[in-house]
Amino acid sequence: MQIITKIAELDYVLSKYRNQNKIIGFVPTMGALHLGHISLINASNKDCNITICSIFVNPTQFNDKKDLERYPKTPEKDAKLLKDAGCSILFMPEVDEMYPETDTRIFDFGSIDKILDGKFRPGHFNGVAQIVSKLFFAVKPNKAYFGSKDFQQVLVVKNLVKQLNLPIEIIACPILREQDGLAMSSRNTLLSKDEREAAKIIPEIMLTIAAHKSNNLSIKQIADLVNKKVSTNSMYKLDYFVIANADSFEEITEWEQATNYVALIACFVGKVRLIDNVVF
Ligand code: PAJ
Repeated sequence: MQIITKIAELDYVLSKYRNQNKIIGFVPTMGALHLGHISLINASNKDCNITICSIFVNPTQFNDKKDLERYPKTPEKDAKLLKDAGCSILFMPEVDEMYPETDTRIFDFGSIDKILDGKFRPGHFNGVAQIVSKLFFAVKPNKAYFGSKDFQQVLVVKNLVKQLNLPIEIIACPILREQDGLAMSSRNTLLSKDEREAAKIIPEIMLTIAAHKSNNLSIKQIADLVNKKVSTNSMYKLDYFVIANADSFEEITEWEQATNYVALIACFVGKVRLIDNVVF
């Protein structure tokens, strides 16, 4: 596996593959890799001739400076995991390489980025769009792989490639979970032992929503149950729990309003903000 830190070098190396019409797969990440990230590498390796992973902790998508400072960094471990997974190129630029000038671009994703994480993390999706577009310009992949764990991010990125007319296929991959159901996340390593134990409540909530629907509970009754559950312990702070139409991404209040549903949650456990979703 080649480790590259400069865009010009990356372009030089990749042009060789482009000239041979090789299919280039791309997995953007912020590092502190786990098996969820590696599942994206595996998906790319299956479809593509060459897989590139980027590790870049993007400052413009952190609305909370402390969250950026705390973000876990494990570069040696990451490089080994990627090499073992069969990744061909690891792109690890410094901040100055990606942002030689302040990026002043403001994107508009209509209603997609105004709700949920867009509302609770102002500027977050604009920062995601800034870095993902810069990475797409640098890598020029045929296919790019994203985890459905960040459901709203996938919608933003799909909209971004349309807005910019980029010929990149965006592929959404399933959520990988720990044995107790907690969605794998780089942030899980920031949880203390007690917090990690308490975090189990999130998959407990999420993996029972479909059953509640089958048992004829209304959306309001489910939301009340969730609120009651998180109020049992002061460690939790719920940012949101909503059920939306999985196709239009509009929040719904009655089951009749959609055929495919997605339940989404963002909840602090201590200082660590965790997100999860289920489509049903
Ligand atoms: P990061 O949080 O490192 O995630 C990188 C990719 O891994 C994202 O597409 C994310 O959805 C996916 N991922 C994370 N946990 C997963 C899990 N448990 N199962 C499956 N996939 C999972 O998302 C970002 O970085 C950044 O916003 C980025 C797109 C790199 C832009 O900076």
